[in-house]
Amino acid sequence: MPSSFFSTLLIKNGLRLFSLFFGLMPGMLLWACTPESEDKKKHHASHQPDIFDLPPPAERWYSPEQVKMGEKIYLQHCQSCHGDRGVGTKDWRTPLKDGSFPPPPLDGSAHAWHHPLDDLLNTVDKGLNHMPAFGDKLDEAERRAVIAYLQSLWPDGIYDLWHVRVERIRLKSSP
Ligand code: HEC
Repeated sequence: MPSSFFSTLLIKNGLRLFSLFFGLMPGMLLWACTPESEDKKKHHASHQPDIFDLPPPAERWYSPEQVKMGEKIYLQHCQSCHGDRGVGTKDWRTPLKDGSFPPPPLDGSAHAWHHPLDDLLNTVDKGLNHMPAFGDKLDEAERRAVIAYLQSLWPDGIYDLWHVRVERIRLKSSP
């Protein structure tokens, strides 16, 4: 009978089983509570990326002076179409009858960040559809400053994407 087998075992060895259990207990507790070794921690860290370990945001290419100068230029030459702080027009996604677009946001919320710096500068220089060319009105330093101002409105996440996906790839592929 298994039940009588177990009860005999318990009666005969009760004390021994009892001391075995409570003898092992402190060891088990100690093992469970010991902090992980450095090696183990590193191993775990490699499987669980820590969001606080992300690299710092990309460094901006422009200076605060360029942003200041660019803001003045923006207010004078661009705000009338592109809105306060580059918010753009409400229906910028809907093409006009001639296939061109209304002034889009330039504050990082639309797709200005898909363009490398040279393309953005070129748009300001040469104009685009209903946007006039500024090549005669603004010199290169002023054109760079106005783009610097607009990029200063971009959140770090967007600037990083632009920096890594657009600018760095372009610089790598250029001869
Ligand atoms: C008369 C209105 C007008 C003015 C003034 C104007 N823009 Fe534009 N801009 C537009 C329009 C319209 C477009 C979109 C054209 C298209 O895609 O068909 C545009 C597009 C752009 C783009 C391309 C954005 C993208 O996502 O590809 C940039 C960059 C830009 N403008 C910068 C500027 C800057 C900087 C100034 C001031 C120096 C300026 N614009 C002044 C109307 C204007």
